[in-house]
Amino acid sequence: MKFTFYGHACFMVELKGKKILFDPFIRDNDLATGVNFEQIIVDYIFLSHGHEDHVADAFDIAMRNDATIVSNYEVATWFQKKGVKNTHPMNHGGSWNFDFGTAKFVNAVHSSMLPDGSYGGNAGGFVIESDTKNFYYSGDTALTMDMKLIPLTSKKLDFSILPIGDNFTMGAHEAVLAAEFVGTTKVVGVHFDTFGYIKINQSIAKEVFASKGKELILLNIGETIEL
Ligand code: NI
Ligand code: MN
Repeated sequence: MKFTFYGHACFMVELKGKKILFDPFIRDNDLATGVNFEQIIVDYIFLSHGHEDHVADAFDIAMRNDATIVSNYEVATWFQKKGVKNTHPMNHGGSWNFDFGTAKFVNAVHSSMLPDGSYGGNAGGFVIESDTKNFYYSGDTALTMDMKLIPLTSKKLDFSILPIGDNFTMGAHEAVLAAEFVGTTKVVGVHFDTFGYIKINQSIAKEVFASKGKELILLNIGETIEL
């Protein structure tokens, strides 16, 4: 499965020929100036919560591609009212079969407010199951015991995507435990280095994972790998 990192907590996966983008924050990310924004072609945009650093580019990308925005009820409805034609609202604990696979909206411990101050519902993460790969993207979150429910209720996961930047989310030490809770050895780290509050030492973060027998993958912005 192709996995492309667009900086901060934004990434794209390709499943069954569908391109699924998560949490687009590209044009306002000073570290992502090398990304050719206009060239991003997607079928779906998944949003973990309403914060600006996760939704900033969702409207423009959705309108340009006629893409479907999938998020919690409040965030999906906010985009629908702005004029996005295809939105799919979810709420915690619910799954839906999309044409690329199944998505479940799962608990996160974090806040959620839309860029104009509107109520953004409760933040969440997604468990994606497909014919090829299964993975968990936690969204912004603290380490939470709810993560332990994920392996009890989903297929065996191939990898997880977890924030490691600390301050607004869990840091590397907690993310290792999150990986443990959901049963993944391979972790793609996100939500680090973008702002002063979340600047990390990447080699220390990798050592933290390695010391627990886990692999922390930190991609360059714009890099695509096979996962
Ligand atoms: Ni947030
Ligand atoms: Mn964030």
